[in-house]
Amino acid sequence: MSVMRLDKLLAETGAGSRSEVKKILKNGAVTVNGAMEKRPDRKIDTDCDTVMYQNREVKYEPFIALMLNKPAGCVTATEDRSHKTVMDDICHPAKDRLFPVGRLDIDTEGLLLLVNDGELAHRLLSPKHHAEKTYYVRVEGRLTEETVRAFEEGMDIGEKKKTLPAKLSILDSGEISEAEVTLYEGKFHQVKRMFAACGLKVLYLKRISMAGILLDPSLEPGQWRALTPEECLRLKER
Ligand code: URA
Repeated sequence: MSVMRLDKLLAETGAGSRSEVKKILKNGAVTVNGAMEKRPDRKIDTDCDTVMYQNREVKYEPFIALMLNKPAGCVTATEDRSHKTVMDDICHPAKDRLFPVGRLDIDTEGLLLLVNDGELAHRLLSPKHHAEKTYYVRVEGRLTEETVRAFEEGMDIGEKKKTLPAKLSILDSGEISEAEVTLYEGKFHQVKRMFAACGLKVLYLKRISMAGILLDPSLEPGQWRALTPEECLRLKER
C-alpha cells in the first residue's frame, strides 16, 4: 500500500506544478472514487483509490529517470512532424510517460534527463531553483580573462535583465578555443548568445552535467541508461 497526498499525486504525474494543482482542485476538476475532491491534502491509497482528472485515471508509478546522451540533429520534444526527436532513441516500457527536463538545441549534444515526475521537472527548471548546468564548448576565437569576467559579471543578451553570473573555465585558447561553462538559469540559446555577446561563435556545444548528475562518459550519442538509485536520490533531494 502506498499512501500520498492528492496534490502530490497529481503534481508527480504531470498535471502541473503544486500551485497549478491547487487551482485544478479548487475548480472541482478531480474526482476520487467518483466524488469531487477539492482538498489538496486528501490522502490517497494508490492501490485502491481511483483518481480521475480530465476523464483519465491518474495512475501513480514509481519515479523513473533516464539520462540520454542527446545526439545532434534531433529536437528536444516528444513529437515532431519533420525532425527526429530525443524520444526516438529511447526504448523503455514507460517511454510514453517520460518527458525531457528542459531543452537542448537541435545541434547541441549531451546530457538530457527524462523523467516521469512533472513536479520535479518543474522544480529543476524553475528560475528560483537555479539548478546548475555545465557545458563543454568549442568556439571560434580566443578566450581571455576578460571573457571570464564578462561571464562572471553577467551580461546583456537582449533580455530584460542581465544574465546571472556564470562560470567560464578556459581549457584551451587559440583560433579555436575550448572551455567549460556553468550556468544557473536556462534562457533560450543562452550559451550561444553569451558567447555571441563577447564576439565569439559557438562551433560545438555539449552538456556534461545538470543538477549534480554527470553525463556517463560510456554513453555514445543516442545511447541512454536509467539513473542509478543514488543519482535518483540526488535529483529528488534538489
Ligand atoms: N545554450 C544554448 O545556446 N544551447 C543549448 O542547447 C543549451 C544552452
